[in-house]
Amino acid sequence: MSTSPDASVPGSDTPNLEYTGTTPYEDYVQADVLTHLQHPLSDDPGEMVFLVTTQVMELWFTVIVHEWETASRALREDRIPVAMDALGRSVRELEALNASWKPLARLTPAQFNSYRGALGEGSGFQSAMYRRLEFLLGEKSASMLVPHRGAPRVHAELEKALHEPSLYDEVLRLLARRGHPVPDSVLRRDLSQKYEPSQVVEDIWAQIYAHPDENDELVRLGEALTDVGELVWRWRNDHLVATRRAMGSKTGTAGSAGVAWLEKRARKNVFPEVWTARSHV
Ligand code: HEM
Repeated sequence: MSTSPDASVPGSDTPNLEYTGTTPYEDYVQADVLTHLQHPLSDDPGEMVFLVTTQVMELWFTVIVHEWETASRALREDRIPVAMDALGRSVRELEALNASWKPLARLTPAQFNSYRGALGEGSGFQSAMYRRLEFLLGEKSASMLVPHRGAPRVHAELEKALHEPSLYDEVLRLLARRGHPVPDSVLRRDLSQKYEPSQVVEDIWAQIYAHPDENDELVRLGEALTDVGELVWRWRNDHLVATRRAMGSKTGTAGSAGVAWLEKRARKNVFPEVWTARSHV
């Protein structure tokens, strides 16, 4: 980031060094705050990258939630190019998110044990931003709010997200406005419940994909959703494999069955009908 031309020394081609208070970079990025949020709980030198990778992933979750909320709002207002831009950005952000598994992907059990005890019951299972991400995919669950009862702001944000239409709900409403026969039971579903796949919606996607010339925009939308679904599935699988390498079949810090529980979670199909429709095109 450069300083404004006004701030540079006249006639000089080097950056300005003089600021009366904090630098404009600091005022914008808050790097001093961000780089002092790392408080490892053990003396193990390997814990730092575990903590920072987790924080980096939280930041990516935050950006991706922002993109999907932007896309949802744009779809609701029939501003398809705006929605497609946000979805496209989120696909590249998901790729960056998934690349950040690298430093943790090959932990040995002994390495992970060096700081695992210090984590106590702390687990990514308690990530509120990850829940918002899942809620936007249509994977709603009121019970996922329970761990956050003691944190009023986080709880209120999750509660709001639980009752709002997901990204996929907005897509299905768009399909209905475009004349596709989306059933009333889908359009008026209880938004706080997990989205259940519908045969009619599968038929609609199959029809759209079978006639790409007439449905160019919707095919592109379907493909953007497919990219998102694939990359979320890859995140879940990378997490699963990293966990299997680091702790085998031990129970998780949040008390789950660990790998066995994560395997079930990774089997979920994001935007189910954009996948199942492919068998019928
Ligand atoms: C190699 C390091 C890691 C191991 C061994 C591990 C292990 C686990 C286990 C066993 C669970 C199941 C819940 C439990 O009982 O704790 C879980 C859940 C979860 N972890 Fe990790 N994890 C690791 C790294 C991360 C990182 C870096 C993140 C990034 C935020 C993360 C995010 C999550 C999330 C979001 C869940 C909930 C998944 C769901 O609800 O489907 N994990 N993890």
